[in-house]
Order: sequence, then structure tokens, then C-alpha cells
Amino acid sequence: MMLSRIISNQNGISRQRANALIAAGKVTVDGRVCRDARENVDRFARVAVEGRTIRQAMPACYLMLNKPAGYLSATEDDIHPTVMELLDPGIREGLHLAGRLDRASTGLLILTNDGQWSRRLTEPAVRIPKVYLVTTECPITEETHQRFAAGIWFEYEQLTTSPATIEELGHCQARVTIYEGRYHQVKRMFHAVGNRVTSLHRESMGDIRLPPELEPGQYRALTSAEIDSAS
Ligand code: URA
Repeated sequence: MMLSRIISNQNGISRQRANALIAAGKVTVDGRVCRDARENVDRFARVAVEGRTIRQAMPACYLMLNKPAGYLSATEDDIHPTVMELLDPGIREGLHLAGRLDRASTGLLILTNDGQWSRRLTEPAVRIPKVYLVTTECPITEETHQRFAAGIWFEYEQLTTSPATIEELGHCQARVTIYEGRYHQVKRMFHAVGNRVTSLHRESMGDIRLPPELEPGQYRALTSAEIDSAS
């Protein structure tokens, strides 16, 4: 939110007065004097006027969850249980998902209240690798390797997916790396080559990897290194 609005929202201060306080160097953001009334200040910053805190910083929260099958990647739903129900009630407030998994899919799901950070992780343009363990109905052909490497045309979005890689692990099993994260992307890519995904498990997003000790349904806070890796 714009700095002048944060100040004018508080204590009935007019926008004009807020601008004057900012111009006079009486406003600090996380302890730093800020003279730009238009500065975009996120909710993790503390704002003070003449030394008095008018808005406390909200603590940032970054979690990874090992999503079990059957849970919706949504904050609420009338029919199916959502991944939010796997979190302690006290921690859910203000969290959103940094990338979804289909209801039947399992594995790494990231939740945060930091929208700027999660956008970097999920924006197709940033090209963060997302790695999936995939089981398919039919064996993966050489043509599938080539089509994934060339990119698959998605009619609905009118675009070609970024080159994806396939590492075959066994009969009908592979590790697939994509660099976007479009709606049902992996399933749609296999569908486009006449195959079908029967199970999908996300192992990692960028440098954030699901650790083997995190059981389905369990979650933990991201480490500073994991948070920084996507910053
Ligand atoms: N691609 C899919 O098809 N489904 C997911 O849940 C994630 C990626």
C-alpha cells in the first residue's frame, strides 16, 4: 500500500497532512526515513510517524506442506477438505498457496502470506523448475521426449509451453521438470501426446525440496536459505 495512504488511514490524518509529514522527514519505514509519499510499503514493514509506531509489521510466514491426496489446494471449499485444514488454526490467517496441486496429486505445497515472494516462485516468466514424479498409463515414447523438449501447444492459453525434460525411472514412471506451472500442466502435456497421468507427486520448486522425513499431511516452516533461494 502507498505510504501516504497508510498514514492517512490512521488516526484521521488527511492525505495532505500525511504528505507534509513524509516530506518533512518525519516518517520512517522499518526505522529508515522515507520521503517518498508514493512508496509502496508491504505489510511486513513497521511504519512510524514522529517516532510513534502507527502500524506494526506483520510477521511473514513461509511454510511447506506435504500434501496428501484428496485435499483441495484452496483456502475454503463447501465439499472437499482443503489443505488449510491440515494447518493449526492459529497459523492459517492470511496464508495463500504459492502454486496449486490437483486434488489427487501429492507432494510439495508452499503456503505464505508474502504475495511478492510467492509471485516470484510461480510467475511463468521467472522459470523456476518444478519437478514431479509421474506415473503414466502407457510407456513414455521417444516422441514424447521430443515433444516435451520442443514445447506443447496449449490451445486455451494460445501458447507453447517452455521446454520440459523427462528422466525415465522405470516402466511408466518418470521425473518431469517444467518451468512454468500452468493449470493442470503436466496432465495436459501428457494428454497432448496421447498418454494419461495416473499419479503425480511434486518433489521440488526451485531449490525448495520436500524432505523425506516430512510425512503426508505434515508441514514445517521454510528455512531462511529456502526463503532466500526464491527471493
Ligand atoms: N500439473 C498437473 O497436471 N497437476 C498438478 O497438480 C501440478 C502440475
